Amino acid sequence: MIKYITACALTLFVFGNVSAQNKDEVTLQNKISSIIKKMTLEEKIAMLHGNALFSSAGVKRLGIPELTCDDGPLGVREEIKRFDWNSANWTTDSATFLPNGSAIAATWNPDMANKYGVIIGQEANARKKDVMLSPAFNICRMPLNGRTYEYYSEDPYLNGRLAVQAVKGIQSQDVAACIKHFAANNQEVNRNNINEEIDERTLREIYLPAFKAAIQEGNAYTIMSAYNKVNGYWCSENDFLLNKVLKKEWGFKGAVISDWGGVHHTIAAANNGLDIEMGSSGPYDQWYFADPLLAAVKVGQVSEKIIDDKVRRILWVMYHTSMSANHPKGSIATPAHGKAAYAIASESIVLLKNDAHLLPLKTNNIKSIAVIGDNAIRTFALGGYGAGVKAKYEITALAGIRSRFGQTADIKFAQGYKANYLASRTDEQNAGYDKPNDTLIAEAAAIAKKSDVAILCIGSNREYESEGHDRKTLALPFGEQALVNAVTAANPNTIIVIMAGAPYDLNEIKKSNHTIVWSWFNGSEAGNALADVLKGVINPSGKMPFTFPVSLHDSPAFALNSYPGENLNTTYKEGILVGYRWYDTKNIEPLYCFGYGLSYTNFGYTGLSTDKKNYQLNDKIAVTVKVKNTGNVTGKEVVQLYIKKVNSSILRADKELKAFKKVMITPGKTAIVPMNIKVNDLAYFDDKVNKWVVEPGEYKIMAASSSKDIRKVTSIYVH
Ligand code: BGC
Repeated sequence: MIKYITACALTLFVFGNVSAQNKDEVTLQNKISSIIKKMTLEEKIAMLHGNALFSSAGVKRLGIPELTCDDGPLGVREEIKRFDWNSANWTTDSATFLPNGSAIAATWNPDMANKYGVIIGQEANARKKDVMLSPAFNICRMPLNGRTYEYYSEDPYLNGRLAVQAVKGIQSQDVAACIKHFAANNQEVNRNNINEEIDERTLREIYLPAFKAAIQEGNAYTIMSAYNKVNGYWCSENDFLLNKVLKKEWGFKGAVISDWGGVHHTIAAANNGLDIEMGSSGPYDQWYFADPLLAAVKVGQVSEKIIDDKVRRILWVMYHTSMSANHPKGSIATPAHGKAAYAIASESIVLLKNDAHLLPLKTNNIKSIAVIGDNAIRTFALGGYGAGVKAKYEITALAGIRSRFGQTADIKFAQGYKANYLASRTDEQNAGYDKPNDTLIAEAAAIAKKSDVAILCIGSNREYESEGHDRKTLALPFGEQALVNAVTAANPNTIIVIMAGAPYDLNEIKKSNHTIVWSWFNGSEAGNALADVLKGVINPSGKMPFTFPVSLHDSPAFALNSYPGENLNTTYKEGILVGYRWYDTKNIEPLYCFGYGLSYTNFGYTGLSTDKKNYQLNDKIAVTVKVKNTGNVTGKEVVQLYIKKVNSSILRADKELKAFKKVMITPGKTAIVPMNIKVNDLAYFDDKVNKWVVEPGEYKIMAASSSKDIRKVTSIYVH
């Protein structure tokens, strides 16, 4: 009886809340309608296109402010001039540099994505920005994509969980997230012209789910259309993506903003779902959504109803941001933000190999350390094309190592290699960037030889991985392999630290080196987080968010010759088999698999159970995994749940990630880890009937420490 009453009370409470929300929404929409009624057509149209590089007009006489935006995702970009990209030379815009997208993904911790978002939101408020062009989470289809570092992972579920929290974090501060780039910006080569042919099942299962989650669960207020075409239509005028899926199916209420300079036509873009045109060139009144749109409305090629809908969406965004009640003031580059950046960075670092148990470093025995490599002294907040951050500070690896080990050890530095590569140069001008520098190598080997330990910081940088172009190979740049060989020969106690945002060829290093740590473009606190991992203050808990192939030709887009496309057209021939879905289904052994990462402790998986064996549609499968810390130190494990349809009647991936949880476990203790999978989430998209279909029958549920390290398996049945 008590249970029944509680249930009723709960129902009433929930419905009460929903209807209050609905009422608020109705009141807001009515308010917006009354404002729209007061506006002239010219005033409406002025709101639909940029009036400067990073803003669009308001209507002064009605008290409607400009809509201001700024770039993410690495932090709030410095103030640039109103009409050009040069610095405005402010002294108050130094910001927190946050770990890059793939670093956030490597935490496998949605709370970290949320922390990231809150900082972005607070710093945006301090700069009076309404919309942050962040987070970016296109699927890492192809390891050479120049923007892999900006994006999260190769898996739609992991992307979705992180995107939802990043959006919630940003918007908790009454700042709009602008999720990007919708959809399928998976290569930078020809990004402004390429047409991506993607079948609907693949779009629905791989490239769209994280966007859907960010809209429906995260309630993202704005979204940026990508530069490329999808199935024949520019993303800024793609009726299927913008009108049918985003606005109608997903119920998106906010505004679609074009990527900068990504609009091609007036009428097609206006009718097919774009709301705000940004970044075009030429006089502002001649942009596609300026005078030409006015003219198109006047002759009836675009209806005023469509214009009103766009204005309604923009005002809706404003009421949740600049025009929100009690709008927070924000704060920038505070110590608290630094602390949060440290927390994210320290959970993102991936321990790839520790065969000699060199890590964590035993400070008592180590009296001298050779820190080697240009990346040990390099900062990553800026560089290359695309948005960076004017970081208030950035702790380099060398500075971090000095601060954590400087009291007890003599620390020497050698550059080891020269990073002779600039994104702005031509291939000819960059020629020779991959050649080793023998003098620097000799210097480095000499200090390594005289030290107890060498910490060799290599990888890439923000020039080498950059928006606007893709890498040409997976090879480590700057002759780094020769440096690794020389330093390792001089001192076998060498720790290889790789700082980069995308997969590289680590075959040689994996074979010849016993200690490998992966760090990223890891934000203001990167060096401290890295040094604390080396010291064991932090037990590494990052897991790879994408597969490292043995060879580029193993990766699907290369194996099927569908990158970078022919005649500006590329067909996603691998379909749904992206990332580990491809490697596992095709039995191709990766170098490092999705979800891989070691710890200073070990975890034993001692149990996997489900609440039932047989399920119906709309049920939830309550899964419990038991994980024991069998080592001597506290650590965090990312418990991963994959599913596989047994005897599927259609092609399915060998496994699909459906849930994960990061848990902290003290030595000797067993964590009981509950996780849910909705039966509906076992569905595939049937493009013959245009519906999600859950095939009845047996599904394996696999509890795993990585996509290749399955520890426990059980079966459930769907009826
Ligand atoms: C990028 C976007 C960015 C915009 C504004 C474009 O080139 O693709 O991600 O937000 O520029 O800087």
